[in-house]
Amino acid sequence: MDIKDIDSLELQLENELRQIKNSDDLEKFRIKYLARKGELNDFFEKLKTLEVNDKRIFGPRLNELKKNIENVFNQVKNSFSNDSCDNFFDYTIPGVKQEIGSLHPTTLTARHILKVFSSYGFEIVEENEVESEYYNFDSLNVEKDHPARDMWDTFWLDKKYVLPIGSKKDEFKSKNLLLRTHTSPVQMRYMEKNNPPFRMVAPGKVFRYEATDARHEFQLHQLEGLIVGDDISLDNFKSIITDMIREIVGQKDLKVRLRPSYFPFVSPGLEVDVECFKCHGKSKDGKCSLCSNSGWIELMGAGMVHPNLYKSAKWDKYNYQGFAFGMGIERFAMLKYQIPDIRWFNSGDLRFSKQF
Ligand code: DAH
Repeated sequence: MDIKDIDSLELQLENELRQIKNSDDLEKFRIKYLARKGELNDFFEKLKTLEVNDKRIFGPRLNELKKNIENVFNQVKNSFSNDSCDNFFDYTIPGVKQEIGSLHPTTLTARHILKVFSSYGFEIVEENEVESEYYNFDSLNVEKDHPARDMWDTFWLDKKYVLPIGSKKDEFKSKNLLLRTHTSPVQMRYMEKNNPPFRMVAPGKVFRYEATDARHEFQLHQLEGLIVGDDISLDNFKSIITDMIREIVGQKDLKVRLRPSYFPFVSPGLEVDVECFKCHGKSKDGKCSLCSNSGWIELMGAGMVHPNLYKSAKWDKYNYQGFAFGMGIERFAMLKYQIPDIRWFNSGDLRFSKQF
């Protein structure tokens, strides 16, 4: 036996110890080297056969080696006992990749649109999804027996419906509650609490009691907008909405056109169309999936606020002027991402939502 053997033995044992990854292998190491019948003991046995002088040299060195190895052994052992997973965690099995979630296309689209509006100084407002007949219809100039009510098939709530904690019955100004069919009631709630001039947008969920198909959902999102001041004109509306649409779509020179339409809460009522941002009216194969070759895409309903709304809001002066608009957020997302069927949005199908 040579002193050099002891040096290389020490190195080898330490290396072996440091590579051990679990307590089973550590125990095997202990039995092989450190136990009473282990290999280290063989060295101590050999020591007995050496000359006195050699014993003086190798004896202390061998004791030192044993102490060092036991120290390292304990270190490794402690590192396992601190890690309570050691008993069932196999470090050698390849890991499972954690999937990173992504935002839903409705959220992405809403955030994008809101960012543009807030950069133009619009306040962002939110209200309850449970609404009353008064705010959803009456206050918006949609009279009880007027055929216009049929524009919004409604989910009425049971009379026994318990209001959300913290809300008061008289906040609703009507006993008949419903799931709001559009975000327009937010206009009225906002007008009651604020005086002009102001500009606001209100995103939110709305509900329609109707059959679903590729273009209809019973639960969707809208964005409402309202600007009121002393002399806001239709001209202002066209210029603001054109800027907004161009910025949201990300194309500079898109044309926007207004078409007469009817909504009880505005006069005149309008439909806003934007030049097809896919084919620009020049679809070569005559098969544009966005505009069906009309060259135009219907984007929102809008109009000059009906003076009756100022009366409902109990403003002391009714000659303010303002405009309002309402658009479907899913509709916009469908155009932006070319999604052919609105039912995908609530499908919960990861194959759909993972693409955004
Ligand atoms: N609330 C209407 C709807 O859901 C959309 C709308 C039309 C909103 C005209 C408006 C507007 O503010 O002025 O069909």
